[in-house]
Amino acid sequence: MANDKRYSVVIAGGGSTFTPGFVLNLIQNEDKFPLRKLKFYDNDAERQKKIGDACAIIIKERAPHIEFEYTTDPKEAFTDVDFVMGSIRVGKYKMRSLDEKIPLRYGVNGQETTGPGGMAYGLRSIPAILQIIDWMEEYSPNAWMINYSNTIAIVAEACRRFRPNSKVINICDMPIDIMTRMAQICGLKDFHDIDFNYYGLNHFGWWKEVRDKKTGKDLMPELKKYVAKDGYWVGGDFDKDTEASWEETFKKAADCYALEPETLPNTYMQYYYFPQYEVKNANPEHTRTDEILEYRQKIVFGECKRIVEEGTAKNNMWDRNAVHSEYIVDICHAIAYNTHEKFLANIPNNGAIANMDPDSIVEVPCYFGADGVQPMATGMAGRFQRGMMMEQQTCEKLVVDAYEQKSYDKMLQAFALNKTVPDASVAKKILDDMIPVNKPYWPDLK
Ligand code: NAD
Ligand code: LMR
Repeated sequence: MANDKRYSVVIAGGGSTFTPGFVLNLIQNEDKFPLRKLKFYDNDAERQKKIGDACAIIIKERAPHIEFEYTTDPKEAFTDVDFVMGSIRVGKYKMRSLDEKIPLRYGVNGQETTGPGGMAYGLRSIPAILQIIDWMEEYSPNAWMINYSNTIAIVAEACRRFRPNSKVINICDMPIDIMTRMAQICGLKDFHDIDFNYYGLNHFGWWKEVRDKKTGKDLMPELKKYVAKDGYWVGGDFDKDTEASWEETFKKAADCYALEPETLPNTYMQYYYFPQYEVKNANPEHTRTDEILEYRQKIVFGECKRIVEEGTAKNNMWDRNAVHSEYIVDICHAIAYNTHEKFLANIPNNGAIANMDPDSIVEVPCYFGADGVQPMATGMAGRFQRGMMMEQQTCEKLVVDAYEQKSYDKMLQAFALNKTVPDASVAKKILDDMIPVNKPYWPDLK
């Protein structure tokens, strides 16, 4: 290790379903990224307590040298920290459910981060994330924020506009999840064994190149053959815990690939390539939120309750690695030890994709180090991809315009322009249903 410093981390959104897995991962990777302090911050004390009490037991048993606390007080949370992990869901699952179900009323795709639901969620997240950045800068001016609170593309555009000099990096685990599958398909261990060139927007991108990191072997021919048939579905033991809707998503990648066979697609392209199929396939009464409430959230909170009741975290469900959080530990390590490892980040383009505007927010490979992220030049986007990106990123910018100008018209234009919405009158109906339920979170759109 290049230094012997131990780090202090705060997880903003301590009550997140991903928190215990992340804590276990931090502890398991202390040789890479040693900790002295871990804090949780949330604005829902009751929810956070359930996760916090279980994590206190995990830490006491596995890493008693780590000072641990959870709080709803921003000053306490953000003082003396080196890294802030942004994992908040503004409006929680109650609002996610509405993001999904309101568009479906009008035959439009209802999804967490895509289409009108994703834009609604993005508009809710902007002020909360800006506030967390401000607290971090006030109480720990040297800290970095690694944010994965969605809707990332919109949050990243808000950061570019309103906090251009802040030390915040917006990231996503979907490409890592897919690269873990690519590694499986090609007989490699995990995503660390893969080198890649990828470009796009968040939840909206394509692999141009995939190689075996050690040998340099081009894996695209093998992967293309596999994806054309089975998408990114691996099956067997690897997928034994994968939920039904994700199985469909990984398999649907075969159809996405068929549309543009020069690259390999991010799974989220399904919502833009096949919006009518997605709507036909959806149950407007039972969306992804319901699946999470019945499965992931129930399991996570059930496991936390069990740990607290039994007073021990022996044999807990997170002892198996969670890909989502492993990647985040890798990123902290790269920044703390200035390794210049390559990961994806959502940043202002500034030439990274040669034929996109400098001020576009793009998701591209970046070298992570003590100075933050240095983007890699990914080359030219194909004509098809560029057309898709121009439309989508304009929607994302219009949402931030709506926030900045408190403008109803900008939000309506964002919905009307989106590839998932068939017509402006439908966009208006969705927006008009969303405004009253989002009143506690959105600016007053005029
Ligand atoms: P969750 O609802 O389980 O937890 C989110 C927590 O945030 C809740 O405890 C809630 O009380 C808290 N919260 C909401 N608003 C807050 C605020 N203003 N200040 C402090 N805390 C606040 O959510 P989850 O499913 O665990 O997801 C957490 C976040 O991570 C979401 O934004 C989700 O979209 C995102 N996510 C990102 C990726 C990625 O790789 N980018 C992957 C999965 C999930
Ligand atoms: C989640 O909550 O898991 C999402 O971020 C992605 C999904 O599963 O819909």
